[in-house]
Amino acid sequence: MSDRIVDLIARKRDGGELDAGELARMISKDTPDYQLAAFLMAVVLRGMSARETADLLAAMVGSGARLDLSSIGRPVADKHSTGGVGDKTTLVVGPLVAACGVPVAKLSGRGLGHTGGTLDKLESIPGFRVDLTPAELIDQVRRVGIAVAGQTADLVPADKRMYHLRDVTATVQSIPLIATSIMSKKVASGASRLVLDVKVGVGAFMPDLASARELADAMIELGAAAGLPTTCMLTRMDEPLGRAVGNAVEVAEAVETLRGNGPADLVDLCVSAAAIMTDDRAAVDDALASGAALEAYRRWIAAQGGDPDAPLPEAGAVVPVPSPRAGYVHSCHALRLGDAAMRLGAGRATKEDPVDHAVGIVVNAKAGERVERGQPLATVHARSPADVDAAAVAACFELGDDDVQPPPVVIEIRG
Ligand code: URA
Repeated sequence: MSDRIVDLIARKRDGGELDAGELARMISKDTPDYQLAAFLMAVVLRGMSARETADLLAAMVGSGARLDLSSIGRPVADKHSTGGVGDKTTLVVGPLVAACGVPVAKLSGRGLGHTGGTLDKLESIPGFRVDLTPAELIDQVRRVGIAVAGQTADLVPADKRMYHLRDVTATVQSIPLIATSIMSKKVASGASRLVLDVKVGVGAFMPDLASARELADAMIELGAAAGLPTTCMLTRMDEPLGRAVGNAVEVAEAVETLRGNGPADLVDLCVSAAAIMTDDRAAVDDALASGAALEAYRRWIAAQGGDPDAPLPEAGAVVPVPSPRAGYVHSCHALRLGDAAMRLGAGRATKEDPVDHAVGIVVNAKAGERVERGQPLATVHARSPADVDAAAVAACFELGDDDVQPPPVVIEIRG
């Protein structure tokens, strides 16, 4: 007779292992939330072997539908970021890769907490639709070379349930649980090549390099076992990526980047990711310089019902935050700035909150840049002047007298 669920929880609690069938039973719909939550806590405390992690991944992928992209007829590339502040890379990398002739199909999520979500950003473009059916997504990738849509309810339902339980039971911080959560959705999305941007720093899930490396290696191993070749970029998330944090302001920055006027860190990260996805750095550089990537962006937005020429939503109040002193910016705290943008309405404190696409914060002085007293450190885009907490935004910046050189945004590439 097979062990009861309570016996499986006890085995994990005591440091034992579960086999593939036991893991599938544990995460099935028949296991009540309280037992699944107890199991998740046992995993946080005891960890999982590589074999168990791969079996958990397979069980999670098997809990729902898988997108079959084979009718596109060519290998499809996907990218994913573990989440950060000002992370609009999909809006730049997608068109860059598509312009190089490599099809891109991506299922994205919404923002939560201080991290933004690609779907929210895209929805600030008038008319843009994220609710594509699988058939529409595949057809668009065939015609236009790129599609980005919301995840359907039947894609890895086990992750939706587990993620919700983890959120409310202090069980998010576990490498096997984070790795299987991310990779289950990527494997089920059907791509044949994956680049993961694992953020490291105060604005990221992984605060330090050692844990980011461990997560990256776990995901590379899972990708290999599931037949999805995966490369991980470890990138800095101590300060916001680029200058814009919000929704419409990030779309505007992404378009400027595709026009060739992007901030150095954003360009560096996007070109590096696209070079891995295409295996052709020269083609990526050319797609950016020639305007082909901007054209690919315009075709993509129009294909999903958006108007690439329509004005983006604008905030009622645009308020500069002056620097209290002259000096060099030593740091701009990504987490605090992301929280400040969320409080303006750019992000969500809970999953049910609406998002205001027009509000956000634009960083005028990034690390290493000099400001004079009274010059803006940042510009707040708010619904009204009453919403602007200039002191909280100014407090995100650390200034000093010496000229600092910020380290490159891409720390290393693994896999
Ligand atoms: N992103 C996910 O999709 N899952 C996690 O567990 C963490 C980040």
